[in-house]
Amino acid sequence: PRKLTTVKALSESPGLSSIPSIYTFLKQPYHEPVSDTEEPIPTIDFSLLTSSLPDERSKTIRELGKACRDWGFFMRMMKAIIEACREFLELPEEEKRGISGKHVLDPIRFGTSFNESVDEILCWRDYVKIFQHPEFHSPNKPPSFRALAQYHCYLNGLRPNRLELTWALNGFSLHTEFPQTHPFYFHPRRKSPTINGLQLIAANLYPPCPQPELAMGLPPHSDHGLLTLLIQNQIGGLQVQHKGKWVNIDPIPNSFLANIGDHIEILSNGKYKSVLHRAVVNNRDVRISIAVPHGPALDAIVSPDSKLVENVGNPPAYGAMKYKEYLEFQQGTMLNGKSFLERIR
Ligand code: SIN
Ligand code: FE2
Repeated sequence: PRKLTTVKALSESPGLSSIPSIYTFLKQPYHEPVSDTEEPIPTIDFSLLTSSLPDERSKTIRELGKACRDWGFFMRMMKAIIEACREFLELPEEEKRGISGKHVLDPIRFGTSFNESVDEILCWRDYVKIFQHPEFHSPNKPPSFRALAQYHCYLNGLRPNRLELTWALNGFSLHTEFPQTHPFYFHPRRKSPTINGLQLIAANLYPPCPQPELAMGLPPHSDHGLLTLLIQNQIGGLQVQHKGKWVNIDPIPNSFLANIGDHIEILSNGKYKSVLHRAVVNNRDVRISIAVPHGPALDAIVSPDSKLVENVGNPPAYGAMKYKEYLEFQQGTMLNGKSFLERIR
């Protein structure tokens, strides 16, 4: 296997003024118009989901449903674990490699690009992925990573899966609650025996790049799983495809971005589309983003929800597949748009 340096080390090489050709995604500098949204990205106040006023609750659910259909992205409020991830990603390379597994399902995996063993063009990105659920893992360095456990509890307090899947289905007038034994059920409290959904944290480091117009932090893709919550430092770089155009998503302080993953697309039989997004880089500032994908249980077999298929009378548009297998394939190949989801259509 080839031995790659990190982009962090590369970006720090003295006098670097152009990027090695293996990092060149684009033959020509891209100047495609990136719209600065005519429409603002929907912002949803989640506290209203549990409002005592039924009208307020249903209005919020309707807004959420609309945001998912129109955008696949919406905002949530919060604060950071970014510095701990930065400290980790700035540790000496041997230390990071030393604790890192190789397989995509290893609980802690540090690396560069997306999948360094198969990528033909390298992404301008270093990352660490840590599984947090159903079993909690954390590197023991840096000490600031203690924040991870807290962040994890905080995220669970938001109860993304149960609440949001419930609204998703409410949006289809199914009024279904996921029972605690359902493979998608994600319990808010860690100690509960009913936790079975997968949650992992993926921290990305995008150092300054001397030729940002040729490189990519992450090429266009959609995420596996149900829902990804993303936070970032104040440096923009995330772009989302909306109505066929790339749109800059400027970071809003103390907020989460939430995006619909492939498994909501499958579950909703294509009514909610997972969103295509990418990360571009810049030549000035280090950008850090932290994505927390939430998936069903690893051994859950995901297919279009049978009630949905029956109610709406649409034949299932996606084949059934075990989440674990989806994850292994999608993470083990090169990122390429929604090509993996297309394979089970
Ligand atoms: C991701 O797609 O996982 C990360 C995107 C970003 O860095 O904003
Ligand atoms: Fe992503």
